[in-house]
Amino acid sequence: MKSLALLHASQLVTLSGPNRPRVGNELTELGIIRDGGILIRDGKVDIVGPSDEIEKDAGDAEIVDLGGRVALPGFVDAHTHLVFGGNRLDDFERRARGETYEQIAKAGGGIWSTVEKTRAASEDELFAETKKRTDWLLKCGTTTLEAKSGYGLTLEHELKILHVIRRLNEETPLEIVPTFLGAHAVPRETSPEKYVDLVISEMLPRVAKEKLAEFCDVFCERGYFDIEQSRKILNAAKKLGLKLRGHVDQLSNSGGAQLMAELGATTADHLEKTDEQGIAALKSANVQPVLLPGSVYALGSTHLRQGSGGQASYPLAREMIEAELAVVLATDFNPGSSPTPSMPMVLSLACTQMKMSPAEAIAAATINAAYSLDRGDTIGSLEPGKIANISVFDCTDYREIAYWFGISQTHSVYVSGRPV
Ligand code: NIG
Ligand code: FE
Repeated sequence: MKSLALLHASQLVTLSGPNRPRVGNELTELGIIRDGGILIRDGKVDIVGPSDEIEKDAGDAEIVDLGGRVALPGFVDAHTHLVFGGNRLDDFERRARGETYEQIAKAGGGIWSTVEKTRAASEDELFAETKKRTDWLLKCGTTTLEAKSGYGLTLEHELKILHVIRRLNEETPLEIVPTFLGAHAVPRETSPEKYVDLVISEMLPRVAKEKLAEFCDVFCERGYFDIEQSRKILNAAKKLGLKLRGHVDQLSNSGGAQLMAELGATTADHLEKTDEQGIAALKSANVQPVLLPGSVYALGSTHLRQGSGGQASYPLAREMIEAELAVVLATDFNPGSSPTPSMPMVLSLACTQMKMSPAEAIAAATINAAYSLDRGDTIGSLEPGKIANISVFDCTDYREIAYWFGISQTHSVYVSGRPV
């Protein structure tokens, strides 16, 4: 493989720093090299530094002039529901008329309607539909993502989704980290008790045996899986060697953050309703919060009156940063609550709605996200030895990535040192 030297980034945002997730003030330290360059050998970062120095060391490497653009480690999207059939345009229109996520789910929309469409699709159909979405992700500058099952809700269909994820990982430039989310909703055809049983006694052992997932997730929420059921499922997953993530405290504060702390989960995701006690619990167990402002935005309910029940609000990002939690940002890409593959859009929301600084948002979307997927040693920053996943943006200051919204500034994307 030919070596490559990328030269003349106005800002090469390296995120170099300690070999662990970043907290507190560290989130603002991006390790920026002005007029920066990077030498890539065998798909890995060899050296980073000022362009004139890199050029001297470039030898026979192919030279690419970045023309004064901004270069970052590829975004790591640590929470997506990438594989689903169809869309939820009817839910979207009903929400525009003022109905809530929970009302729409009760009336036959919601997760269940996506389950029906996902079950109806063959593995090949689902693969083709989903492959298009991986192009969207790359166009937004994402090079690694987590993807969950959860729209099958039978052994056969959950396995089908996980097989699609495996194929996408093999057949696209993206690295995709699989998560089993069999406990995403209780399917119509069975009772909650029987379904929890099925997840534990049949689905989880099969998923673990076939090594189809690294993580297990549950949707812990009223009307979905309560604390006790979530604990049972996640404990069973842990015994089988899976690491844990969880959808918690999204629509109501049920003590989900505390549960994730008790179980030693890697991440607790959503947390829109998590309070100071929940934050303290996450801190005590070093659980990384994964914040998903795209889902709050797309549910479009923050302006509605308090008390109308199940309304989303943005999570307490500032309090979490002050508590020294290693905050992560992700899209939650899914057809219902967050139909966006765009990490730049999520950065915009993080800054405008959750009062994170652009630097904090970038660190949360790269290095911290990489650690949350157990890949902090190999991706998430541009440091010698790491995989050369790089996204180049058509701007001269990294803050522009979060500032301009509604347009794509992605110029080019490299995965393992190859342009894609
Ligand atoms: O993260 N909250 C649960 N799951 C998704 C939404 C799934 C859907 O509506 O299809 C979420 O918001
Ligand atoms: Fe989600």
